[in-house]
Amino acid sequence: MTAPETLLLASDGPGLAQAAALLAQGRLVAFPTETVYGLGADARDDRAVAGIFAAKDRPSFNPLIVHLPDLAAAEALCLFTPEATRLAQAFWPGALTLVLPLRPGAGISALVTAGQGTLAVRVPDHPVARGLLRAFGGPVAAPSANPSGRISPTTAAHVLAGLGGRIAAVVDGGACPVGVESTILGFNGGVTLLRAGGLPSEAVEACLGHPPAVPATGGPVTAPGQLASHYAPQGAVRLNATAAGPGEIMLGFGPVAGDLTLSASGDLIEAAANLFARLHDLDGRGATRIAVAPVPETGLGRAINDRLRRAAAPRP
Ligand code: TXA
Ligand code: MG
Repeated sequence: MTAPETLLLASDGPGLAQAAALLAQGRLVAFPTETVYGLGADARDDRAVAGIFAAKDRPSFNPLIVHLPDLAAAEALCLFTPEATRLAQAFWPGALTLVLPLRPGAGISALVTAGQGTLAVRVPDHPVARGLLRAFGGPVAAPSANPSGRISPTTAAHVLAGLGGRIAAVVDGGACPVGVESTILGFNGGVTLLRAGGLPSEAVEACLGHPPAVPATGGPVTAPGQLASHYAPQGAVRLNATAAGPGEIMLGFGPVAGDLTLSASGDLIEAAANLFARLHDLDGRGATRIAVAPVPETGLGRAINDRLRRAAAPRP
């Protein structure tokens, strides 16, 4: 089978309309922001978001940044603190991402938040990104548009070199003016610098009147994996189980049926899309002991297994 072709779309009205239509169909579209090119998907669509991890070949489900057209759209998804509002008013649109409590029922895929109660939001300052967000009219989850472990792309050619044949389209908006990812701030009590980036922390300090805190582990967190959640269900988890033992609720995959399943057909993209919802389901059922069917260690299976191993690891 030959790889499906990735469309190179112009950043004019028809190009943006086609890009928005692809997003609405659950397809993946790379687009320029002022920082780097993002790999976008409808943030409400579990399958589409799972496709991001598959296309990037990401070995783990790190939470993703949701891109929005304006502050009002972000306020509809997250609970803003007064400091967060002040920073957003000062620097949006721009290279600043805010991690804030997710409003219940906001409709964002649990894969975007890695099953956590917080959401990263950003209003990008790039005419093409803004045009696409307006044309699409919904939240767009987008990590940098590079294969996992490779350098972030700042041109459409970089995107095609890394992800050509794996995504539906890339909108060509030329070179990204900032070229490094956004600065990420968390609001857990005070204001914490989670990732240094395109907005200098001096600018954050000038706005707040004090410098943002850095995480207790030392300098700013730069490796995405360091921010991975340790979401685990309440119950004890046993992996690579082929049948439920006494008192266990079974989470199946493919031929190993269960009380519930990640994917009855053994489809890894479907399994990834279902993963956090199933773990929540198990909590909802009050499961105290959980058996999980084997998931192959290929493609998205590696990210699924990474998350399942965390869920099964001894708890502190
Ligand atoms: O400039 C940027 O931020 C680019 C463009 C495309 O907007 N995007 C980007 O996304 O760099 P990504 O996925 O490569 O980096 C997202 C970072 C990760 O380190 C992730 O752990 C963190 O944001 N993050 C996302 N949601 C989070 C959350 N709820 N809590 C803590 N960290 C979060
Ligand atoms: Mg990245």
